[in-house]
Amino acid sequence: MGPNKFSREVITLTEFIIARQKDFPFAKGDLTSLLNDIAVAAKIVTREVRKAGLVDILGEVGAENIQGESQKKLDVYANEQFISALRHGGVACGVASEENDDFIGFDEQFYTGTTYVVAMDPLDGSSNIDVNVSIGTIFSIYRTLEPNRSASLEDFLQAGTELVAAGYVIYGSSTMLVYTTGRGVNGFTLDPSIGEFCLSHPDIKMPETGSIYSINEGNYKAFSEGVQHYLNWCKGIGEDAPEKPLTGRYIGSLVADFHRNLIKGGIYMYPPTKSAPKGKLRLLYECAPLAFIVEQAGGMATDGHRRIMEYTPRELHQRVPYFVGSKHLVEKAMEFLKQEAEAS
Ligand code: AHG
Ligand code: MN
Ligand code: MN
Repeated sequence: MGPNKFSREVITLTEFIIARQKDFPFAKGDLTSLLNDIAVAAKIVTREVRKAGLVDILGEVGAENIQGESQKKLDVYANEQFISALRHGGVACGVASEENDDFIGFDEQFYTGTTYVVAMDPLDGSSNIDVNVSIGTIFSIYRTLEPNRSASLEDFLQAGTELVAAGYVIYGSSTMLVYTTGRGVNGFTLDPSIGEFCLSHPDIKMPETGSIYSINEGNYKAFSEGVQHYLNWCKGIGEDAPEKPLTGRYIGSLVADFHRNLIKGGIYMYPPTKSAPKGKLRLLYECAPLAFIVEQAGGMATDGHRRIMEYTPRELHQRVPYFVGSKHLVEKAMEFLKQEAEAS
């Protein structure tokens, strides 16, 4: 984009992605329209999220509201909104969602030449919905293995390195949409007065190191020794530990913890435990898309040993251990895990 491309200071998401489309010589505008569909659904979900605290006043979830419509749980609502936006957008030929056991193929539109599938976590951090704490949406966009047919399972089971685009929406003190197409990371804040996402965080770069560690430390006893030693290191315990301990911050919404650490510098971890040897988080629509973003911003994402982006999922809801964040902090965690592996 040239410096004087826009005469006013505000650059909307739509303007930005259309301008970026010109950088892809063979782009037909499909990805532009797909990202727009996601943005529209995000605005609709924002509207609903902002009303969530009023449920007690306006009617319980599950009960009928004044218009006789039944109130839906927010995660079900978000799932429906994103799926419907993608279905009607006519660009994607299928969606896989945390909320659905199987993927959904948009059979009716495969013949229109659709070439993308979307995997998503429509409402991340769902335990925080009822307590007014930030929640989010995460999405991965892949090209189908073949054009002009309905989505197949194989279209979704692609390595992170094949991602065409990935992003998240955070419904926090404001709503933000952050995405990458592999040419840096850009963040847009929803201006509710004009109903547009406006470029607020151009070319996000993650600090190489940071002072925040984010983990559900209630699981400490169930972590491996390597993870326990790393956590001690974070607290300033041990020989080469930092003199000033890191700060612990854990929201329990991956999107919110990730977003804060992306901006401020830090590490988020969901390590394996004895009862959950693959951790908790899902590769396809939680770990891989955020790995793409973090790498584009200069950070790292691994399972403790291996790069997340190189994982090829074997199933839609596959789990993977996750260490994501500032380069130095992730490398340090990997050192402890390597020592542990070598000792055993
Ligand atoms: P979801 O709400 O989509 O099921 O995801 C919850 C995830 C993630 O957002 C969060 O970081 C993590 O689960 C929290 O897990 P614990 O409660 O085990 O810490
Ligand atoms: Mn989630
Ligand atoms: Mn979810």
